[in-house]
Amino acid sequence: MCGIVGYVGPKPALDVVVEGLARLEYRGYDSAGVAVLADGRLGTAKRAGKLVNLRNALADEPPPAGTLGMGHTRWATHGPPNDRNAHPHTDCSGTIAVIHNGIIENFAALRAELEERGHKLNSDTDTESVAHLLEDELAAVGDGGLAEAMRRVCGRLEGAFTLVAVHAGDPDLVVGARRNSPLVVGVGKGENFLASDVAAFIAHTRDAIELGQDQVVELRADGVRVTDFEGRPAEVREYHVDWDVSAAEKGGFDYFMLKEIAEQPRAVADTLLGRVGADGRLTLDEMRISDQELREVDKIIIVACGTSYHAGLIAKYAIEHWAGLPCEVELASEFRYRDPILSRSTLVIAISQSGETMDALMAVRHAREQHAKLLGICNVNGSTLPRECDGVLYTHAGPEIAVASTKAFLTQLVAVYLIALYLAQVRGTKWGDEVFAMVQLLAQMPDKVDKVLETMEPVRELARSLAGERCVLFLGRHVGFPVALEGALKLKELAYMHAEGFAAGELKHGPIALIEEGLPVVVVVPPRARDVLHDKIVSNIQEIRARGARTIVIAEDGDSSVEPYADTLIPVPAVPTLLQPLVTTVPLQVFACELATAKGHDVDQPRNLAKSVTVE
Ligand code: F6R
Repeated sequence: MCGIVGYVGPKPALDVVVEGLARLEYRGYDSAGVAVLADGRLGTAKRAGKLVNLRNALADEPPPAGTLGMGHTRWATHGPPNDRNAHPHTDCSGTIAVIHNGIIENFAALRAELEERGHKLNSDTDTESVAHLLEDELAAVGDGGLAEAMRRVCGRLEGAFTLVAVHAGDPDLVVGARRNSPLVVGVGKGENFLASDVAAFIAHTRDAIELGQDQVVELRADGVRVTDFEGRPAEVREYHVDWDVSAAEKGGFDYFMLKEIAEQPRAVADTLLGRVGADGRLTLDEMRISDQELREVDKIIIVACGTSYHAGLIAKYAIEHWAGLPCEVELASEFRYRDPILSRSTLVIAISQSGETMDALMAVRHAREQHAKLLGICNVNGSTLPRECDGVLYTHAGPEIAVASTKAFLTQLVAVYLIALYLAQVRGTKWGDEVFAMVQLLAQMPDKVDKVLETMEPVRELARSLAGERCVLFLGRHVGFPVALEGALKLKELAYMHAEGFAAGELKHGPIALIEEGLPVVVVVPPRARDVLHDKIVSNIQEIRARGARTIVIAEDGDSSVEPYADTLIPVPAVPTLLQPLVTTVPLQVFACELATAKGHDVDQPRNLAKSVTVE
């Protein structure tokens, strides 16, 4: 949520910053702004709406050319998304500029205090107070003291923030600070970068520094210094980004989402890579939780949000079946507001693509207070979640830039299968042979996903034909139920349509009342090998069809039993039930993407959304 870029070096800062913002626009697109320092003068520009509006404004009225600057794309929290509330915000003197991601919870008190001291604030944002607080602190510290002023101000702020500031009196310095909100440093040769996400500077450097909690970074062209809020030198982790700029570009696709859907076979393969030994046994040493500790686990609780929560729901079936452990799945935003029963032998698994979702981070902290073991499943190296967990299993989806999650979801599924099978392996459950066979079968999944992608043209045609509909329902059973929820979520967020997923067994307990003539209902059918489950859902299809529903059936290739009841049949390769979400989700992603495109929507940047939700 909100994208932040800072730069200092020999290049024209405006170009570097705007290019970085373009790569971060998925984090928020309510407004955008930049600040550049040139010859001791601060120039700013900002515009409501997408980055293109700012670009046009900059073309009409370019700020002075300088080699130090910063920029921001906003997802509005305080105050409507207009020019006035866009970042950067400046102080009374117009010499300090600040950009911010997060929420400053005590901003009302700070603002009142500032106004009492005579400061005049112009926006409705929580951010503007920081510019004025810096002004007061700088008056005390003196020119050249921006970093010290920032440390002092941070000590007064409550809530979550990434802040970046520049000051005309510190012409070679960009200062950043973070608490509970992402900020990484890009380390170049004679130039350095700050950003919410490495994508912003990946075209310039792949060397990064992960900043910790409550740290302030001083960025100069020739070096980077990191301290805590008290000014003590802080420890940081340096790392090398294992993907390059091409991964953060559309590569010939009209949308990132289309590219990311197409990348799924590769992403699934990459997430499996190096995790199966020559003897067919899993090795997850990187997880940092010992086998002995895993043997002591007696309960698993999974916390996550949105699409990642759906991956968690599927994990429950896999963990309970293969590992024989009780498993609960909870929306991270709900978890810490009830009284979950946790102990030292509880393993809490937090799933988050970004590793920055505030609800997930808060759930993890809540679990830590109760001494549970913590395992993260995360796609972004350098993000907060892995640091806050005892162990982490990274998915290797590569950067996911479209707001709606696709390849990250499939790789999260791979990660949860790996964890479930690994738990079974180290704990020695009754499913020993099946576990061994599943590990082998996982290796075939990239090909199966590829096969699904090859057959998507009829799904695209179907989606286009349904662009005029107002509502689509999704039904599934067992692991097909979370797939139905995921199909509905994709359609809601991309096509802005009423879409709902149901457990097919619940149909007669209420949702069947929604069925009316012509209503499109997508049904995810389990493999024929699961005969009872399979036959029950085939009965459900007949029941809704008898009431006029237009049935769209996703079923195993060659499942002739569903043919008579399917208005549209979408065949997917035969795979075991628990792995089926890897192939049944893909047509639903394609369906939602195509339908939304047919309605003229921007599928990469759906309205009101942002990629990583860093506020609660
Ligand atoms: C939906 C989507 C969101 C995210 C959710 C959690 O397509 O992308 O529902 O899944 O905001 O995000 P992460 O996984 O980054 O914690």
